[in-house]
Amino acid sequence: MKGIILAGGAGTRLHPLTKVTSKQLLPIYDKPMIYYPLETLIDGGIKDILIISDPDNINKFSRLLGEGEDFKVKITYQMQDKPEGIAQAFLLGEDFIGNDNVTLILGDNLFVGDGEFLEDAIKSFKDGGRVFAKEVTDPQRFGVVDFDAEGQAKSIEEKPANPKSNFAVTGLYIYDNTVVKKTKNLKPSDRGELEITDVNNLYLQEGKLDVKIYEHYWLDTGTFDALLEAGNTIANLRKNEEK
Ligand code: G1P
Repeated sequence: MKGIILAGGAGTRLHPLTKVTSKQLLPIYDKPMIYYPLETLIDGGIKDILIISDPDNINKFSRLLGEGEDFKVKITYQMQDKPEGIAQAFLLGEDFIGNDNVTLILGDNLFVGDGEFLEDAIKSFKDGGRVFAKEVTDPQRFGVVDFDAEGQAKSIEEKPANPKSNFAVTGLYIYDNTVVKKTKNLKPSDRGELEITDVNNLYLQEGKLDVKIYEHYWLDTGTFDALLEAGNTIANLRKNEEK
């Protein structure tokens, strides 16, 4: 299993915080944001990790994390000239993925409170895709799962005005190697992006997307309030651990 962290994007919703630096380098309590998704992948047992970022920031990530020696993993870097959607990671990462399966995590997603969930999910993964959904109060901000009466996922809608459930698809995706080919056949959406939601729907249509419910604390740090909440939550957890 290979791992990719996507740490690109203009971060315009967080201006001026992100005007001269990457969102994924902003502090979450005592560490730069990217440490959290990196530790999630490492806790999942992944040892070979590609970080994708934009031309302005890629060198900052490599200064921060090097070749991964401090984390006992191998880290390499890939430039994303233009942000053209989350699924673009599989095109930029094609050589890195090779013939392997791949887990993608968004650099602004924090999964806190259970170090083992990803390791379990990867160990039992065979083929298809596996994603993690979390109940939220503001589903319009996310990819949202539509479940049938049996609780099976029927479809996923990207940022729907009228969400069919409160379950957001989090920014952590486990896929078999067919994800590269699937992404090559995708057409950009109306906003000009290769949508990860379209990838998930392709797996769903094949009957091969496993939607797991994530039971612990999850945050996409895409807004000022979410960023502040993430910092406070981590600080509280850390202080409780020290007691
Ligand atoms: C992206 C995805 C969305 C997903 C979210 C999770 O949205 O497009 O499907 O629910 O990440 O963080 P973004 O935050 O990039 O707008």
